[in-house]
Amino acid sequence: MAKLIGGLGTSHVPSIGAAIDKGLRDTPDWKPFFDGYIPGQDWVKEHKPDVAVVIFNDHGNSFFLDKVPTFAVGCAEEYRPVDEGWGPRAIPSFKGAVDFSWHFIDTLIENRFDPMICQEIEVDHGIQVPMELFWGRPAEWPVQVVPIFVNVIQYPIPLPSRCYEMGRVLRQAIESYPTDERFVVLGTGGLSHQLQGARAGFVNPEADRAFLNDIATDPDKLAGMSREQYVEMFGSEGAELMMWLVMRGAMDRDVVVRHKHYFVPASMTGAGMIVMENAATASPAVAA
Ligand code: DHB
Ligand code: FE
Repeated sequence: MAKLIGGLGTSHVPSIGAAIDKGLRDTPDWKPFFDGYIPGQDWVKEHKPDVAVVIFNDHGNSFFLDKVPTFAVGCAEEYRPVDEGWGPRAIPSFKGAVDFSWHFIDTLIENRFDPMICQEIEVDHGIQVPMELFWGRPAEWPVQVVPIFVNVIQYPIPLPSRCYEMGRVLRQAIESYPTDERFVVLGTGGLSHQLQGARAGFVNPEADRAFLNDIATDPDKLAGMSREQYVEMFGSEGAELMMWLVMRGAMDRDVVVRHKHYFVPASMTGAGMIVMENAATASPAVAA
């Protein structure tokens, strides 16, 4: 059967992609941020996953407010990077893990989750930036992808606990998939930020650092929080962090943290990264 080899979490701030596009990686403003991802890039090089399941939200690019699915799963051959208004970016299209996507959707339905099924869809910075952060700028992505879209924009958004439950179903789908492929799951979004309203510019570094600890050691606490608590603690857009719970729900209760990085502010956002392995099957490398 297929195997889950790790859970990764990362911000997906669009200005990170713009910084790479403009050759700003090694400028004093950006270098400390990007350098923090080097251990994550080394981890994927060393562990060579075949498939990346990426949980993110669309930001009004492929869905608009007139039609917003609570959960959607891609099952396309290919996902083109959507042009968000600054012109096409020099990154390759993402190849879909089509058969696994259908198997996952079927497993979701069996478990009373009813996602929107997307056989054709473009994908925005929510997946583009995480893929660049972990895999750089290859001519072709070395993994196939399964995009999971979560509505964290148009209220009512799903419960954090529901995201966590979806992760358990994802794990079941991976471990009942009859290939020997190696899977990683990426939770994306956050960390604290608010781009609108009276608290525009709000970041909460203390809450971000606690989140990066709790996602490994106490995910039940994060899954038990209300949507309102996410907005209060992390900002209206920082509530994206609940999507990391899909990734975390796919992992075992006990995990080993391999790498962790926090940087604030990236643009107007607390930005963070984590690399975890299940403790029971963790490689013998020294924990971070
Ligand atoms: C911004 C947008 C995002 O989608 C995000 O997750 C963080 C920051 C921004 O526009 O700055
Ligand atoms: Fe976002």
